[in-house]
Amino acid sequence: MKRTTLNQIIDLLAAVFFLGMIATGYILYFPLPPGTNKSHLLWSLTRHRWGEIHAWLGLGVLAILFLHLALHWSWIVVAVSQRLGLTRDPQAKHLKSGIITALVLLGILGAFAWITQVSVKEQTTPCCPPKQRRKAPISTTPSRHPSSPATPHTAQPRIQPTIPTQRVPAAPPIEYWKDVYPRLASACLRCHGPNKTRGGFRLDRREDYFGSNENAALVLPRNSAQSPLLSIVKGERPSMAAAEAHKLPPRDIDLLRAWIDAGALWSQRAAPKKQDAP
Ligand code: HEC
Repeated sequence: MKRTTLNQIIDLLAAVFFLGMIATGYILYFPLPPGTNKSHLLWSLTRHRWGEIHAWLGLGVLAILFLHLALHWSWIVVAVSQRLGLTRDPQAKHLKSGIITALVLLGILGAFAWITQVSVKEQTTPCCPPKQRRKAPISTTPSRHPSSPATPHTAQPRIQPTIPTQRVPAAPPIEYWKDVYPRLASACLRCHGPNKTRGGFRLDRREDYFGSNENAALVLPRNSAQSPLLSIVKGERPSMAAAEAHKLPPRDIDLLRAWIDAGALWSQRAAPKKQDAP
């Protein structure tokens, strides 16, 4: 094969690989952005597959580049020697300079591969909560676990996961109807439901928690320390009627506190259950 034909083929390959990289890069950025791997396909390939194709095309470009350099080596040596005013007889130096250049390049690539390998770190916070509710950042308060002991003082060693953290799904945000209401209902509903509404407070009325024109707020989102509801259930208001009936066990207090400090999320209620009318 003639040298010029070979060079043309190599240039053509280089162009193909390069355009392929641009195209797959576009795919990874626009049609299949990060986070779509599990949910979307393009021409029956996932984002992950496209990323692999992108990477292999990149390696292809690199290989072609090396081939290109090798084929033009004599020209490069002559040009560089003349530019630097080195020996008049560059012919003798081809092999040596070629080897040195290859070694330096391999060294740089090897160092890069090594550095990237050792620099990978586990993410401390999982990247993507399953359902993104932007309103309430996830708080990882210990009380999230309903199985935690009722007495917080018993020294329970907190179990630290040894498995990689990115496999642990992010705890969903604490939500009133799903998490808080069921706990309060058993303790408070008999006096604060639609039937009996002591002190004008109902468990199922949002405005009773967050205040309205007539009532002061019982819950100040993200500020459990100043939220009156918390001091009531902690028994810090002994003067109020039925004060004893208002005390909650520590784990329920913890849950309330965590809910308030995470922003007191209150979403649409699912279908009401029978127990609302005791
Ligand atoms: C035995 C009935 C009874 C139970 C059970 C009960 N309460 Fe009450 N609650 C009352 C009465 C009576 C008042 C009126 C107190 C007052 O006005 O001094 C009241 C008042 C309140 C108020 C209004 C306080 C204020 O300052 O406006 C809140 C909030 C409240 N209760 C929350 C709760 C919560 C939360 C629970 C469950 C942990 C609960 N209650 C359980 C009887 C009860």
